[in-house]
Amino acid sequence: MTLRPRRLDEFIGQEKLKDNLGIAVQAATKRDEPLDHILLYGPPGLGKTTLAHIIASEMGVSVRVTSGPAIERAGDLAAILTGLQEFDVLFIDEVHRLPRAAEEVLYPAMEDFALDIVLGRGPGARSVRLSVPRFTLVGATTRYAMLSAPLRDRFGAVYRLDFYDHDAIATIVRRNAGILEVPIDDEGTREIATRSRGTPRVANRLLRRVRDYTQVRADGSITADVSRQALERLGIDALGLDEVDKKVLLTIIEKYDGGPVGVETIAASISEEADTIMDVYEPYLMQLGFLQRTSRGRVATRHAYAHLGLEAPASVADAPDAQQALFD
Ligand SMILES: Nc1ncnc2c1ncn2[C@@H]1O[C@H](COP(=O)(O)OP(=O)(O)O)[C@@H](O)[C@H]1O
Ligand SMILES: [Mg+2]
Repeated sequence: MTLRPRRLDEFIGQEKLKDNLGIAVQAATKRDEPLDHILLYGPPGLGKTTLAHIIASEMGVSVRVTSGPAIERAGDLAAILTGLQEFDVLFIDEVHRLPRAAEEVLYPAMEDFALDIVLGRGPGARSVRLSVPRFTLVGATTRYAMLSAPLRDRFGAVYRLDFYDHDAIATIVRRNAGILEVPIDDEGTREIATRSRGTPRVANRLLRRVRDYTQVRADGSITADVSRQALERLGIDALGLDEVDKKVLLTIIEKYDGGPVGVETIAASISEEADTIMDVYEPYLMQLGFLQRTSRGRVATRHAYAHLGLEAPASVADAPDAQQALFD
């Protein structure tokens, strides 16, 4: 049983993106051409992998899945490219972690559907050009800024996924409760949705945990009470913040006087990876207006103090313009 939407019309939210993608798919189909290369970026759990599969199924082609770190040498990528069928989708997850040499193989492949092979060494070396099937590259990344400019420029379309609004998450929770065959009422749906950090993956995880709880400790259906009890046990507060989020904020506030403090320092003092903090925790804390990224480091805002029940010193900044700097 899968909660993953398979077609564009089952994909909830991200209306503008869906619209544009739908048009691109129809146009390419009409012209009998492969779809332009597409870059998807945004925080984890918002639907990048799901969309890559949907794109292939809407185009009626196969998808070959790999990731930046999985491709160690240029030859790995060359082998994948020559194995594709005409119009196939090649999905490269974490495309910002593609090794430099592999990236260089990708440029002519993306631009001219060609592979440049160097034969021989030294002064006698020559390069031959092989053609590869016309394909669509779908790249996904949580770090738009880490992509090299030449790679970025070769995508025909760049789509940013934003956090989902409350209604979209609620719709996903309701739909998936249906698929999991667990009864849920409107208040139960709302409780789960408000704690899901605007993120479908989180919504699905919470839904499964609440389902476990109600099947063991209650009557098997999901109400507001049951949701609240189950989620409190998991250490998830009313806004969806967990222990790590709180540690991040408390470290900035209590150890570093509200900041600015570098993310590496925060990571070291709570024993987390800096990458995890940047990819998973910070985007939502910034979305809430709890955290600000400045050139000198991270700063906690008045909202963060208030949410944690702490008094903010007069010097603390107001909440920043929430959406800004989300994906730096
Ligand atoms: N728009 C959506 N509608 C319904 N479910 C979604 C949607 N986007 C993502 N999901 C669900 O959330 C989960 C995480 O999505 P995924 O595509 O793996 O995210 P990403 O690749 O961006 O980390 C998937 O299992 C999928 O079921
Ligand atoms: Mg993914």
